[in-house]
Amino acid sequence: MNRSMPLLALAALGLGLGAAGCERAASDDAAPRNVSTTTVVPPPAFRPVNTEQIPEGPLGDAVRRGKLLVERTYEELPDHVGNELHCTSCHIGGGTVPNAGPWVGLPGLFPEYRSRSGRVNTLAERVNDCFERSMNGTALDPTGDDMNAILAYMSYISRGVESGKSLPGRGFKKLEDPPTPDRQHGEELYATACASCHGADGAGQKPGGVYAFPALWGDQSFNVGAGMARLDTAAAFIHGNMPLGAGGTLSPQDAYDLADFIIHQPRPDFAGKVNDWPKGGKPRDARY
Ligand code: HEC
Ligand code: HEC
Repeated sequence: MNRSMPLLALAALGLGLGAAGCERAASDDAAPRNVSTTTVVPPPAFRPVNTEQIPEGPLGDAVRRGKLLVERTYEELPDHVGNELHCTSCHIGGGTVPNAGPWVGLPGLFPEYRSRSGRVNTLAERVNDCFERSMNGTALDPTGDDMNAILAYMSYISRGVESGKSLPGRGFKKLEDPPTPDRQHGEELYATACASCHGADGAGQKPGGVYAFPALWGDQSFNVGAGMARLDTAAAFIHGNMPLGAGGTLSPQDAYDLADFIIHQPRPDFAGKVNDWPKGGKPRDARY
């Protein structure tokens, strides 16, 4: 079973990619010849992107451009990003990892009502929320080529997922029975468990001017209006994904202590916060 799963997955990928993908699936791997590429198998929802398999042509070009924009956001879009983050600083693995803010399936879920805006939002508007808050920047033209490239990338990683289906693993895995945070302990733990990568001053590290570890606070980080500036969200992200490569190893208490310390460090303000939750529905960890 274990051996055949990836092969079936590859066959499903071939279906999503059209004829070229099918040929690749049939010729590049050692698939038993009795596994037909027309076998109906549910596509694996979360899978890493193999850039070489993105189809040629204008749509494929947009998908590739979208992937570049989410992975090199501040370098590629300096007019729209006010810090030194990438979308993938928080949406780990290019939005393909469950419980790490995945984008898989989102094109089939939006437009969606959101209490923070008190309106039905399109996916482009939701992306722009992260430009204005998480990236401390400004919105993209919602119908321009850059936004369309990001949406094309999100659709590409969502191929095969049933429209309207909210996949398990959406967002971050919220911790049940949130503990009362101990900020002082969070500060101590930060020094031993996080500072080696993110810097003692939380400013991240850019050896030779190149992004390596993102800023957690200060001018180059997300602003107070960002989802990551909220206690429950930050704790869930940290618990599930940090230290990088060792997600799930911190206790819920430690994750809350760290989150409480980090979110209360200095960071840019967000003027638009006065318009949030206009019709109620404010979460318990709202900062304002
Ligand atoms: C500082 C961390 C951070 C960065 C950087 C960031 N985001 Fe987000 N993003 C979040 C958080 C937190 C959420 C809310 C997740 C939740 O609902 O639990 C979110 C939600 C989203 C959603 C909606 C997810 C859903 O399930 O409805 C989209 C789409 C999105 N971000 C796109 C982007 C894009 C595109 C960029 C880059 C321009 C970006 N984000 C940068 C933290 C970040
Ligand atoms: C081994 C290095 C490493 C360690 C240790 C580490 N991180 Fe990270 N962290 C990263 C990287 C790299 C990213 C961005 C992911 C990417 O670019 O793929 C990140 C992203 C983040 C983010 C979201 C992005 C941002 O700028 O806000 C937060 C929050 C975070 N880490 C918190 C922590 C906390 C808290 C700890 C300590 C428990 C920790 N990290 C330990 C490497 C590390």
